[in-house]
Amino acid sequence: MILQKENMKRFCSADKITCYIITVLIIITIIGAVIIILNATPPPDPPAWRYECQQNRCVKMELNQSNIDTAISLPVCRLFCGENVPVWPKPTETIRLDPSTVRIKKSGINFRRPSTRSVDSLWSAIENRFTNQIEAKVAHTTGLKDEGKNLIIKFSVNESSNYNLESYTDERYKLSLSQTSNEAIAEIKAETIYGARHGLETLSQLIVYDDIRRELQVVAEGEISDSPVYKHRGLLLDTSRNYFSVESLKRLIDAMAIVKLNVFHWHITDSHSFPLVLKSHPDLTKYGAYTPKKVYTPESIRDLVQYARVRGVRVLPEFDAPAHVGEGWQKKDMTACFNKQPWQDYCVEPPCGQLDPTVDGLYDVLEDIYREMYDYFDSPDIFHMGGDEVSTGCWNSSERIQKWMLAKGWKLEEKDFIELWGYFQDNALERFDKVAGRKLPIIMWTSHLTEKPFVDKYLDKSRYIIQIWTTGADPKVQDLLELGYKLIVSNYDALYLDCGFGGWVNDGNNWCSPFIGWQKVYDNRPDKIAGQYPSQILGSEAALWAEQVDEYTLDSRFWPRASALAERLWSNPDTTWREAESRMLMHRERLVENGIGAEALQPEWCLQNENDCPIIKSGA
Ligand SMILES: *[C@@H]1O[C@H](CO)[C@@H](O)[C@H](O)[C@H]1NC(C)=O
Ligand SMILES: *[C@@H]1O[C@H](CO)[C@@H](O)[C@H](O)[C@H]1NC(C)=O
Ligand SMILES: *[C@@H]1O[C@H](CO)[C@@H](O)[C@H](O)[C@H]1NC(C)=O
Repeated sequence: MILQKENMKRFCSADKITCYIITVLIIITIIGAVIIILNATPPPDPPAWRYECQQNRCVKMELNQSNIDTAISLPVCRLFCGENVPVWPKPTETIRLDPSTVRIKKSGINFRRPSTRSVDSLWSAIENRFTNQIEAKVAHTTGLKDEGKNLIIKFSVNESSNYNLESYTDERYKLSLSQTSNEAIAEIKAETIYGARHGLETLSQLIVYDDIRRELQVVAEGEISDSPVYKHRGLLLDTSRNYFSVESLKRLIDAMAIVKLNVFHWHITDSHSFPLVLKSHPDLTKYGAYTPKKVYTPESIRDLVQYARVRGVRVLPEFDAPAHVGEGWQKKDMTACFNKQPWQDYCVEPPCGQLDPTVDGLYDVLEDIYREMYDYFDSPDIFHMGGDEVSTGCWNSSERIQKWMLAKGWKLEEKDFIELWGYFQDNALERFDKVAGRKLPIIMWTSHLTEKPFVDKYLDKSRYIIQIWTTGADPKVQDLLELGYKLIVSNYDALYLDCGFGGWVNDGNNWCSPFIGWQKVYDNRPDKIAGQYPSQILGSEAALWAEQVDEYTLDSRFWPRASALAERLWSNPDTTWREAESRMLMHRERLVENGIGAEALQPEWCLQNENDCPIIKSGA
């Protein structure tokens, strides 16, 4: 320091004029910099456009000085214009929604939660998620004037309700909006915390950013009473054909939470890879995972299950057997036809592989797998045992299996192989029941085994739920309904989101082309498929089989198409996709705002010019 002062003195005394010039230059530079910084963010110009509600649609109009005071921004116009509130999925009952908003302060959001200490961390996580969603509304805007009323969010739930998320969890809620002179008040009443969570999701969609005034606004007064039509509202993802990081799965669950889907059906293993880490059988992952890093550890599964719970999503594990097994089992000598060629003779896609039901030790291994899965997935109250696409040709290609069957006095006919399959299923179920210690509902895919005359011989309808993947019009669906089975609908012609890309075992298109648009997903009605047995349909799932997708294109395969399913299952509107279209476009923006790489459905012009894009049918 001293040295520096002396240097300065010496410098100034040596050449006073230079010294003063430099000092003045420095001062001018500082003042200049301050002026530039102060001027760097002048208030942005207001947008060029405002919207007016005319004949139930928001019409784009010029915004200028003469109308700026009364001008309405697009999201505010959409809140009140036309029949539908822009909430997705549409609530089952909107009792009242007064056409006015009140501005609220982002920094003034307060939660009043019930005093339930044991689940405080669950409440906090739910509240934080809401706060982040509000944060996301202003993240990409021209800035926020954080002024207005405080927003008070009051929750009430049934004190004696269950805090576990189960297949029969009550998801109803009632949301009431009101205001006092300095507060906007949102009251959310629900039976369970999960219903309350749904109410909060709806509330977040009734809060909009007004880009004319650069402020957050919430609907001032109103009441919504809401509950889902179907209990089972799911998405299936296959993490065996390709691997998905836990981070990308969390993003999937985030998006599910936005649209109140409640089941993440995790098809975790298949013949292609075995990413599930099991302490009892490390060889399955060692030889089965694509790389040592492309695995799901017990910790990461537990973490994901908890993450999903905060978002009202149950994780439904599937262990698909006896087919769809292969990689990972190399050291066990418990499979048949593994990677056998030409694969077309033994399975539906390479690599082939099926468990060999005749190996005694197999059922001990299955019991170990079930035990660990049951534990990692936090004692689920439903389990999926797969059971699809068993190939007789595969089993019949094994001399060991043939010998075992003949020794039992069986023949080698189709029905004998069905018998073998039934034998496998009984033994596997017995081991699962032992692990769970109770008789849980079991889901199985439609297959030969679920057809007449086998199905009621091998699958007890009080235990088994059948997940349909054939077309909705397949008469076998009616057979199952008549026999009294409960169904989950995943008809591939409307709900397989992997359809419609290029082929991967040949050129041309993949097996279930063409691509399924959101409109088809929206108009696929489980109640129509059910015919006279509507109460036997538990719900529906859209499936993404992962031959041609991994985490890098995950978002755009599911979204926003899965949102169409979500609304079909939540409120099952009597209307078609046409009535939902303009809301869907707004909803797609909401997904993007929340970090979901949802596909664009139309030019953004169509969003800004409501209903000017669809072809108007002549005479309509
Ligand atoms: C302001 O915009 C309105 C349409 O919204 C238009 O009729 C009016 O001529 C415009 N006024 C000016 C001064 O540009
Ligand atoms: C609260 O939950 C308990 C247990 O589920 C139930 O018996 C009771 O009827 C519920 N109370 C109300 C007011 O719904
Ligand atoms: C199984 O293979 C044997 C020959 O090894 C054949 O006779 C029999 O028809 C086959 N069974 C079926 C169902 O294809």
